[in-house]
Amino acid sequence: MTAGLVAVGAALLAGQGASQQALLAARWTARTAAPVFLIAYLASSLWRLRRGPLTTALLKRRRQWGLGFVLAHSIHLAALLVNIVAFRPRPVSTLVGGGLAYVLIYLMALTSNDASQRLLGRWWKWLHRIGIHYIWLIFTISYASRAFHADPTYHVEGRLLAPLFLAALAARLYARRKPG
Ligand code: HEM
Repeated sequence: MTAGLVAVGAALLAGQGASQQALLAARWTARTAAPVFLIAYLASSLWRLRRGPLTTALLKRRRQWGLGFVLAHSIHLAALLVNIVAFRPRPVSTLVGGGLAYVLIYLMALTSNDASQRLLGRWWKWLHRIGIHYIWLIFTISYASRAFHADPTYHVEGRLLAPLFLAALAARLYARRKPG
């Protein structure tokens, strides 16, 4: 949450004019939410792969990391709404794909408690498993498209972060195969 607000503040200082400030705010709020998402995404896999005080602490607080991501990404939502409503409308495919991610993000946040988990039973598992991988997919597509963007100023983050997201998926798949 704090990092997201710092990202907005930095964008307001760095951007030249309201349009660029809104674009930078959308960009940097997504970038601050990404590591928080990866921690929530990987917490149980890291624990399976290497049990220790750090991975145990991450696993115990996985729900809090998830809710932290929801807060951080809500700041991205606010920044991108300013960006697309006031300055640059986006194609319907982006709005539907990203909008569905937000529906899943808030459904997961609302059901991140023991009572919902008991009530929904195996549906809870499906919602959270599909939801987290859909969010992963949107992050990965966003960074992969930056890796090959026509504007080369996008390449660095795309080429660093798309492989990181792919590695995170590989770590989850590998951890699932590990016995115990
Ligand atoms: C309708 C929904 C969404 C819209 C319209 C939208 C819009 C934007 C905009 C305007 C930017 C800044 C573009 C730029 O840097 O030139 C951005 C960046 C980004 N967004 Fe979103 N976004 C949406 C949802 C999402 C969701 C759900 C995710 C992830 C699950 C996401 C991940 C990203 C990422 C990874 C970046 C790039 C950040 C970076 O450069 O490090 N966005 N988005």
